Amino acid sequence: MSRIRTAIFPVAGLGTRFLPATKAVPKEMLPVVDKPLIQYAVDEALAAGIETMVFVTGRGKNAIEDYFDIAYELEDTLHSRAKHDILATLEGTRLAPGNVAFVRQQEPLGLGHAVWCARHFIENSPFAVLLADELLWNPESPCLKQMAETQERKGGNVIAVLEVPHEHTNRYGIVSPGTIEGAVTEVRGLVEKPKPADAPSRLAAVGRYILQPEIMALLGTQEKGAGGEIQLTDAMAKLIGVQPFHAQTFVGQRHDCGDKAGYVQANISLALERADLGPVIREYLKTV
Ligand code: G1P
Repeated sequence: MSRIRTAIFPVAGLGTRFLPATKAVPKEMLPVVDKPLIQYAVDEALAAGIETMVFVTGRGKNAIEDYFDIAYELEDTLHSRAKHDILATLEGTRLAPGNVAFVRQQEPLGLGHAVWCARHFIENSPFAVLLADELLWNPESPCLKQMAETQERKGGNVIAVLEVPHEHTNRYGIVSPGTIEGAVTEVRGLVEKPKPADAPSRLAAVGRYILQPEIMALLGTQEKGAGGEIQLTDAMAKLIGVQPFHAQTFVGQRHDCGDKAGYVQANISLALERADLGPVIREYLKTV
């Protein structure tokens, strides 16, 4: 079975929900405590053994390219001042030369279209897709690693899921479930953003995918789906029955950082876990 070598990060979205903050800063660069959202997603891919990172960007997203580059003046200044501890915080921003690529999605035609824009980078092998605004937090057993282990056993495609409230099914790709084995559920169907009354379950896709390369051809010919966009969910649905397809229930904390409340909660929750910040924030929270 071929190992998953490439991760695709769709980062072209406009981030309108976070205006005015995202007027001049990509939403993927918003920090949770002291690391931008995109770094959490890249760290998760690295932890799953992935080497090549492909960012599907758009206008106004240059900060992401600069972030994953060497900041020569800054690093030189820190070196000359012997600020080695601060330099060490930049470690995760240095991706291996030649193993990072940026491709533009010129028009916002949907998540499926964004993934398809990266089709020439996947070398006809299984690949991962990570949506950076979903912060899936389990440092001991990162989500994509949990999924890669399942993919090795089951083959085919694996998506991460979590149960969401019934009234929220219209925000997510929803799974029609088959046989359940612990955290792994067979996927019998997938539907993008169904009304609660039409939802086949409460199992929602939460922004992590391991997909077979055949999906690219399906995305290439695809019509628009829910919301008038080319949907990844619709192309995945076409692979069900053709290839193995499973949903992995994520064990860990999910923070929906595409949502303001979720983003603020992520900051509080991750700060509380930190040895340097936890005690101060815990004390502060007692006072409010
Ligand atoms: C996208 C996907 C959806 C998935 C969600 C997870 O929707 O289309 O299937 O459940 O991400 O966050 P979006 O939130 O971009 O509308």
